Formats: sequence, structure tokens, C-alpha cells
Amino acid sequence: MEELLQQIENYKLEIAAIEATTADAVEAFRIKYLGTKGLMKTVMGEMKNVPNEKKKEAGQILNDFKIFVEEKYNTLKENAQGTEESAADSSDWSLPGNPAIVGTRHPLNLVRSQIISIFQTLGFAVEEGPEIEDDWHNFGAMNLPEDHPARDMQDTFYINNAKAGEQSWLLRTHTSSVQARIMETQKPPIRVICPGRVYRNETISARAHCFFHQVEGLYIDENVSFADLKQTLYFFVQQMFGKDVKVRFRPSYFPFTEPSAEMDISCLICEGDGCNVCKHTGWVEILGSGMVHPKVLENFGIDSNKYTGFAFGMGVERITQLKYRVNDLRLYSQNDVRFLKQFTGVV
Ligand code: DAH
Repeated sequence: MEELLQQIENYKLEIAAIEATTADAVEAFRIKYLGTKGLMKTVMGEMKNVPNEKKKEAGQILNDFKIFVEEKYNTLKENAQGTEESAADSSDWSLPGNPAIVGTRHPLNLVRSQIISIFQTLGFAVEEGPEIEDDWHNFGAMNLPEDHPARDMQDTFYINNAKAGEQSWLLRTHTSSVQARIMETQKPPIRVICPGRVYRNETISARAHCFFHQVEGLYIDENVSFADLKQTLYFFVQQMFGKDVKVRFRPSYFPFTEPSAEMDISCLICEGDGCNVCKHTGWVEILGSGMVHPKVLENFGIDSNKYTGFAFGMGVERITQLKYRVNDLRLYSQNDVRFLKQFTGVV
């Protein structure tokens, strides 16, 4: 009997120290101590060797031992379940997710796409031309006389490789050069817009840059009139800026058009009250336009008695400035993300 009691004390120490973190380990514990061939059974079997007068006392002790083992088993089971559950699901679903960072489009790119899609609805096709251009396509073919100020070294970036007797190469000063390339290769009816980057030898400031973007338009067919030009550009402005914007055409001069006109829209920044964008006039110029000069048509063998056309060229930076109220041209090319991430429009 003494021996049995001593053994039980030893078992208790052994069992108290047991740890089991997995369901398998807990099950192994159950089999070893509480199973049909387990320790508990063996110990209970010892009862038969206990003298009768001690049976009551021994019964009590064995019962306590059984409760002790069962409690240990239950605790092990609960703990193991807890750890298995948290191992299977270690995510904290209340944490904020990883942000999906969506890039933004450059404002000039957004506006360029908007301009293109508006003209595409009118049946204009998109064409592009080279940024490094020869004198003929940029100036000569467009009826820009030798002494035209646009040819001045102050305005044009010439590329210094012209050999004697060859024409000079330059960075195109306007997308009108693409008109020349189109008329060279296509026959009327022609209805194209030509977006692209252009270069001028200007000191960079809030209002001027050495490169900027234009969209050129050219429409040549029989019976194309100035009324068509006005209506097309009026449609464009309404699509771009909304129905409330006012437009006006001012007579102007471009060597490649006759008659020529510049188009102004009512200033969207001050709504006509006067501000420094509209130079306190309430109007902002957004494009140059006109009826294609007969000489330009003839330069490409297009019969100017049969065909007429209109052309226009608009500045993408200026339109973006009015649309998004950008007050400094330099912002477009500084790559400052604080500026760029404000433009989330999708086209
Ligand atoms: N090329 C002119 C410029 O850069 C803009 C322009 C004016 C384009 C009249 C045209 C036009 O096609 O007809 O200032």
C-alpha cells in the first residue's frame, strides 16, 4: 500500500510536467494514461492487492489520482486546440490590406487623349511625324518665307550637320510639319489630327518652355469652308470644356493659311472677370487656324481649284492649364509626384 502511494506521487509529478501542443500528442497522452491498456487501468488493478481495511482509503486516493489525470488531459486538449486554431489562421483580418497603388496618367497625356477622342468622333484619323525634321517640311513647304521670324536662331533648334548645299535639320517648331508629310503621301479627302512634341529655343519660365505639345488638324476635301472650320472647333471646345464656355475667332496671320484666325475661349480660371492667365481680358487663346493656303496645296500637287481645306494647331499645355488650372508650365516636366498624382482621370 505504501509502495502504491509512493508510485502515485511519482506519476503525478511526471504527469504534471507533461506538455502537449498538438492533437496527436494529446491523443498519445490519453492512450498512455487513460486508455483501456493505459496506466490508470494498471494502477486501478492494484486495488485487489490492497488489504481490506485499507481499501476505502486507497479507493479515495486512486479516485483523486484519476480526477487529476483527467483534468490534466482536458487542459492539454483545450490548449492544443487553441494553438492549432491560431496556427491555421494566423492572419489578423482587421488589419488594413496592402494598398493596390494605381498609377496616374500625366495630365498632358490625359488631355492629349481627350483631344484625340473628340476629333475621332468626327472621323479624324491620327497621324504622327518625326520630331527631327528638315527645313522644307517644317518651314518651306508650309509657305514660311526665308525671313519669317520662326526661322530665327532664337526660336529654332537647328542641328548643326548641314553640308554646303544641303538643307538644314532642326527640331520641329510646330506639328504643322506633319501636315506637309501627310499631303506628300495622301490624296484628298484628308482628315487627320497629328499630336506631338515641338521645340523652341525659349528660356524656361512659368509661361514658356523649350518643348511643349501640339495637336495639329487638317481637313482637305471639295467644298470645305470656313463655316466647317468654325463649327468643328466650336464642337471641340464644347466637348472639351462644356456647353457654357464662350468662343471667339480673331483674324490673325499664318503663312500657311489664308484667311487665318485664332480662337479664344472665355477664361475658365476667372470666368471672364480677369486674372493673370487671361491677362485681365477674360479671354484665352487656345489655337491658331485657317483655310489652307493655296500655295501649300500646290506644293504637294493638290489642285487648289478643286480642293479647299482647313487646318488648326492647338497647344496641349494651354488646354491642360485651363482644364486643370495648372499655373506653371514647368510643373509638367518636373516629375513631382505630389503634382502628378492629382490627375486620376481615365480616358
Ligand atoms: N503652327 C502654328 C503654331 O505653332 C499653329 C497653327 C496655326 C497651326 C494655324 C495651323 C494653323 O495648322 O492653320 O503657332
